[in-house]
Amino acid sequence: MTSGADPKSALDQDGVRVLVLTGAGVSAESGLATFRDSNGLWEQHRVEDVASPEGFMRDPNLVWKFYSLRRDQAKTVEPNPGHQALASIEEKLKDRFLLVTQNVDGLHQRAGSERVIEIHGSLFRTKCSRCDLAPFADHATYFESLPLCDACEGRGRSKTLLRPDIVWFGEMLDPGHLNAIDRFLHADRGAPLVFIAIGTSGAVWPAAGLVDLARSVGGTTLLVNAEPADNTSRFHVFIRGKSAEVLPQLFASTRSASR
Ligand code: OAD
Repeated sequence: MTSGADPKSALDQDGVRVLVLTGAGVSAESGLATFRDSNGLWEQHRVEDVASPEGFMRDPNLVWKFYSLRRDQAKTVEPNPGHQALASIEEKLKDRFLLVTQNVDGLHQRAGSERVIEIHGSLFRTKCSRCDLAPFADHATYFESLPLCDACEGRGRSKTLLRPDIVWFGEMLDPGHLNAIDRFLHADRGAPLVFIAIGTSGAVWPAAGLVDLARSVGGTTLLVNAEPADNTSRFHVFIRGKSAEVLPQLFASTRSASR
């Protein structure tokens, strides 16, 4: 721990509001690999080959195989006590809680979290690479053939590829998501705010800057991570540890919102 603020007391304040940011570390104990623990390679692929629009245009077969494999992996794992602790604190705090996740694996929702913003998209949604067809739920895998957009076909554009509904490098986050985070940060300015980043390396923006936004509105900021993150110095408190062990203890005494 790096500073004098007491995390449990911060969470125990009357009317506390809690904004959480999670990253791949939260799913590590469910058995899913994190991103930055293998020399910039994701399962032997360069990030730019499998997670950029250019990589998709170059080799859509490779990209769909990569995400099909990730779909299959995510389906076989279960939420861990870290996910469950976050669902439990949401049950206590209700609208005083918001979970922003960089994870695309759906494990928070499977653990029972409802107020979730998936800022990097979802592994289990597919969208058109060209038209404005609404992203749709899709658990299928595409190892052999590529999925095509029927809406484009109907407009006379044949063979337009569908793609995973994931925010790739070089792409913008959904402005609606950023607005929702901003609204949460600025609502009820009289109430104490605690921001907790969990299992994230603090290397990818704008998520890595949320700590500064929380501080700018007077929030107490906690980092729960197995290793120091790139932005550790921006937090009031660094709790070094595994999320599945730290979170159940950290939230144990948080009181329900009295409304
Ligand atoms: P990273 O792989 O960059 O970081 C995971 C962090 O979790 C590391 O700092 C680890 O030390 C920590 N960690 C590992 N196991 C942990 C555990 N059991 N408990 C707590 N912490 C643990 O993953 P992210 O920060 O999520 O983007 O990566 C951010 C984004 O980069 C991802 O969303 C992805 C990637 O490019 C997209 O897919 C768009």
